[in-house]
Amino acid sequence: MYKKIILPDGTEIGNMGIGTWYLGDAQKTKAEEIASIRYAIENGVTTIDTAEMYGNGNSEILIGEAIKGYNREKLFIISKVLPSNAGRGRIFQACERTLKRLGTDYLDLYLLHWRGMIPFEETIECMEELKRRGKIRRWGVSNMDIDDMEEILECRDGENCCVNQVLYHLGSRGIEYSLKPFTDRNNIPTIAYCPIAQGGRLRKKILDSSAVKEIAEKYNITPIQVLLSFVLQQDNMIAIPKAATLDHMKDNIKCLEIEFSKEDIEILNKEFPSPTRKMPLDIE
Ligand SMILES: NC(=O)c1ccc[n+]([C@@H]2O[C@H](COP(=O)([O-])OP(=O)(O)OC[C@H]3O[C@@H](n4cnc5c(N)ncnc54)[C@H](OP(=O)(O)O)[C@@H]3O)[C@@H](O)[C@H]2O)c1
Repeated sequence: MYKKIILPDGTEIGNMGIGTWYLGDAQKTKAEEIASIRYAIENGVTTIDTAEMYGNGNSEILIGEAIKGYNREKLFIISKVLPSNAGRGRIFQACERTLKRLGTDYLDLYLLHWRGMIPFEETIECMEELKRRGKIRRWGVSNMDIDDMEEILECRDGENCCVNQVLYHLGSRGIEYSLKPFTDRNNIPTIAYCPIAQGGRLRKKILDSSAVKEIAEKYNITPIQVLLSFVLQQDNMIAIPKAATLDHMKDNIKCLEIEFSKEDIEILNKEFPSPTRKMPLDIE
């Protein structure tokens, strides 16, 4: 189901983006990976998620190739800085390297990939400086639990944090208990990574579960499409499935047209319930 997501600064983006972990690592699959990204862009999916960590820059280089020729202003490019690079001494060069690999002069969103040793205050100061220098339009965080988010929001300029990117899929709904309500209350959208549980690999047997199969049959879609459609139907959430293959990308984009009924969601909730207590944040 397609939804518009409104970022804290009022910018609107679609609720599906392109995941890119492991893309660009192998020469022989590059052409299809580029075709998959271009298919998505041409079908309105213009948010692309990457990180300096992915293939040590390979993913950013591949995206740079894939986006050549498109109107940069129509794309929304997200990258992430490693915690070890997230301080005054390294972040500015790290960001420059990312921009160079992507072949662009700004990022739409720059995320702290996960919490490391650099104090949040310092990273936030640097993010704000990158904004002033025109290198990034906005910043956010990833893999932060509620206590981290509270700390971030208490920092100077912490309220400028635009998103929290965390693991979320039908079989891993821990964030629904308190983290997501907290970020929602603070007007911070969630980016759901691993929205299809890495093709089912992260949650054993999820694709064979009777609830998922029942909904898949009802809509004549695959179990993976059930997983993705479930995430796309959440409020204030952007799903970033990764599909190196064109067929997978096409299947994923079709999910923007699927809307489950309340009864369907209840069937899924029964087998994969929303948490009733605080769960540790799942990370990949
Ligand atoms: N912030 C973080 O710490 C963090 C951590 C993990 C991931 N991420 C981001 O989130 C993105 C998504 O997560 P992910 O890549 O780990 O997992 P994912 O998107 O849940 O799953 C990707 C896997 O699913 C397969 N797949 C995709 N569409 C399919 C379809 N329609 N039918 C069947 N299989 C399908 C892919 O195969 P093919 O590729 O062969 O098509 C791939 O093996 C990443 O790429 C990355 O951008 C962020």
